[in-house]
Amino acid sequence: MFVTFEGIEGTGKSTQITLLADWLRARGQEPVITREPGGSRLGGELRRILLSMESTDITGPAELFLYLADRAQHVATLIKPALDQGKTVLSDRFADSTVVYQGYGRGLDPKLLHAFNDVAVAGSWPDLTILLDIDPEVGLRRALARNLAGGTHRSEGRFEAEHLEFHHRIREGYLAWAALHPGRFRVVDAGGSPDEVFGAVRGHVAALLEG
Ligand code: TYD
Repeated sequence: MFVTFEGIEGTGKSTQITLLADWLRARGQEPVITREPGGSRLGGELRRILLSMESTDITGPAELFLYLADRAQHVATLIKPALDQGKTVLSDRFADSTVVYQGYGRGLDPKLLHAFNDVAVAGSWPDLTILLDIDPEVGLRRALARNLAGGTHRSEGRFEAEHLEFHHRIREGYLAWAALHPGRFRVVDAGGSPDEVFGAVRGHVAALLEG
């Protein structure tokens, strides 16, 4: 079983992955937990480049191909081998992040990005994608609180304002893309407590396991 988590910053993706992994372990499974960018050795290097992007002159298409390279390597070296061994894989972000951030966010054609993803994913599409949905103002507040607690100071007003507009576009993109793929996506309201949100996540995973 391959489950991916998507959503804007501050939706609690990593918290939900931790809760789901614990729940699966209690049922005798050994889930593999991973993330994008950065789920492989090459991906670790690409993540460093991608997340320091603000200070470089990297172009939109170059950024896109780095995310796709990260994904192709991630699938080939970690995800597919784990799935072939019968393991459950939980990924914090996957192919839909490219469609939404580079497509709905940066203006590239989502259908073209889906075709590129097909090459990178090489058949290992998720069985289930949980979209954690939240009002960007709430998500951003949570992300800022987390960053400040971690010693990262990103609270300038200008940054926040730009971020908010961008995140509104990303949120709407996710919802539009999820509506186009109702078989694989489940949209979960991420506005509640971690346990409340996990109740919904668990329900969708249990339905997949039973199905
Ligand atoms: P990360 O710190 O993992 O973000 P978050 O805490 O929001 O999950 O950083 C990943 C960033 O990369 C995030 O802003 C989304 C972006 N991204 C893309 O633009 N395209 C992609 O294909 C992927 C996987 C991520």
